[in-house]
Amino acid sequence: MQASPPTTRVTRAATAARSRVIDLLQEDHRRIKQAYREFLRLDAQRNGDLCESIVRRTLAELRVHAALEEELLYPLLRPIVTDVEAVDEAEVEHEIVRYLGEQLDASHAVDEKFAARFAVLCEYVLHHVKEEEGELFPQLKRAKLDWEGLLDEFMARRQALQAADGRLDSLAARESADDLTDRGEDSLLPADEHGVLLNGRVAGRPAHYDAGTITSRKI
Ligand SMILES: [Fe+2]
Ligand SMILES: [Fe+2]
Repeated sequence: MQASPPTTRVTRAATAARSRVIDLLQEDHRRIKQAYREFLRLDAQRNGDLCESIVRRTLAELRVHAALEEELLYPLLRPIVTDVEAVDEAEVEHEIVRYLGEQLDASHAVDEKFAARFAVLCEYVLHHVKEEEGELFPQLKRAKLDWEGLLDEFMARRQALQAADGRLDSLAARESADDLTDRGEDSLLPADEHGVLLNGRVAGRPAHYDAGTITSRKI
């Protein structure tokens, strides 16, 4: 059988990379929803340790997620969205979530309003997620971007941020293993719905990766 022309392979790899970036963001959203549901089933006074563990982990995941969106996604969205105010609002919403998160970080399950603060934070995040998934992500998906380059930067930054937070070490290791499994070594292999082919390029960046080096660009 004849190999597909190069342009087809690039397009399919870019499509797979795009799916991977969006899937990872939406998986983060789903994990936060699940954590909130689990938290609502608990009593912060009687199940203090478990409640605190859910809150600390959710806040850590939110910090990583927000940093990725602010550093990599929102700057790409800003010049392509039909309503730039939606990006402004998303950034301000991140600021509010960060403020609520700092208050929670400084408190414990036995403290008054601990559960209320986490509930308000989660409700706010769910509202934010609805707008991202309903308004911003669809526009991002339609954009002609260097999706493979973005995926490389996204995974490297994500792993560096997770590794810097001891709570997220296990998640970083699992995602890193998943990513290596997903990536083929032979660029002639087709990319499937969930896999990512990057034409032989190796995932990951050095641990000292700096957000200032991000080079994603529109093409
Ligand atoms: Fe966001
Ligand atoms: Fe998000």
